[in-house]
Amino acid sequence: MEKVVLAYSGGLDTSVLVRILREEYKLAVIAVHVDVGEARSKSELQRKAEKAGAAGFEFVEAQDEYVSDYCFTALQANALYEGIYPLNAALSRALIAKHLVAVARKHGATHIAHGSTGKGNDQVRFDLSSRALAPELTILAPQRERNITRDAAMEYAKTWGIEVPATAKKPWSIDENVWGRSIEGGQLEDPNQEPPEDCYAWTKGETTSRADATLVQIAFEAGRPVAMNGEALSPLDLVKRLNAVAGDAGVGRIDLIENRVVGIKSREVYEAPAALVLIQARRELERLTTIGDVTHLKADLDAAYARLVYEGRWYSPLRESLDAFNESVAKTVTGTVTMKLHKGAIRIIGRSAEKGLYNHKKATYGEGDTFNHRAAEGFIELVGMQLVEFRRQHPVGEK
Ligand code: ARG
Repeated sequence: MEKVVLAYSGGLDTSVLVRILREEYKLAVIAVHVDVGEARSKSELQRKAEKAGAAGFEFVEAQDEYVSDYCFTALQANALYEGIYPLNAALSRALIAKHLVAVARKHGATHIAHGSTGKGNDQVRFDLSSRALAPELTILAPQRERNITRDAAMEYAKTWGIEVPATAKKPWSIDENVWGRSIEGGQLEDPNQEPPEDCYAWTKGETTSRADATLVQIAFEAGRPVAMNGEALSPLDLVKRLNAVAGDAGVGRIDLIENRVVGIKSREVYEAPAALVLIQARRELERLTTIGDVTHLKADLDAAYARLVYEGRWYSPLRESLDAFNESVAKTVTGTVTMKLHKGAIRIIGRSAEKGLYNHKKATYGEGDTFNHRAAEGFIELVGMQLVEFRRQHPVGEK
């Protein structure tokens, strides 16, 4: 029997897929759970996968790798899709695909399977990543091929004695990992209606978040966060700690109309406290430590980087090239940024860098000014030469 490696979350949908792949595709299923911080128990997952009919189960502990090599690499690009979304689902799919391929090779599997629908971005990310990494593997996406409804999945589960998790009845479709949490479906599909408070799990609302501001200082070395409030932390610990602290201050909620890869405009709701704080802080430190032309060009490239990740092109040569640029720029991005988090707001109140480019002697309006004021006259004369000439020939307002 040929083998298929299935991205297994442990939920109803992927449990049903185990059985479908076995009974209808006639494949031996190896269920793989790549742990990116969903807080699932390994033994529970294994038990459920086997009960659903899996021939094998693998649990890949990937939280550290995820934060260090995926989230913090994207952080070097201050990556926010459409300026808002920190790409938590997108980044995780690239990493999960990598591990699916590794497990497939280990077991000599010929297929990779995932539970994505035909309407979302995740199918694009899984498929492009696995095709880039392992073109010899065939991709199966039964949900996309058959459009299995929720009711049909429930029916199927009943027939085959597959456990229906309590979460299956919740009105939302949740996807979470340490970099953020996505909430979709149910009443959120009305983009003009405020998300109900109970769709949020990581962030407090206006009334429940801390009454006083929370002071947070992040230290960066070569663009990467290394300490929080003076305490050195691993990337994973820092992100976890910051998620808790910022979430308590009500920071991290995102609500937008998003352009999906497959053309759909969708209303997306996320919680990503640490990601939002780190991106804002890092961007500010970059402003202090890089020269203007780099800061400006990088903002354009950062937007392209975020699109590339969103669209599933993590394993593209373009990302490698942009990463090389980002790492080069990041060499000087060392210092600290201090923020006040309060009732959902992130307010930067201080930044410092030993090798920062802010020069008080040049900037000051007070004592000790070394700026050459008269040089500005000549500068303006030269910089304005063509503008002045053009307007001499074509006065403003002339018909
Ligand atoms: N729209 C978001 C994205 O494309 C969230 C996707 C969440 N995935 C999920 N299977 N629920 O990145």
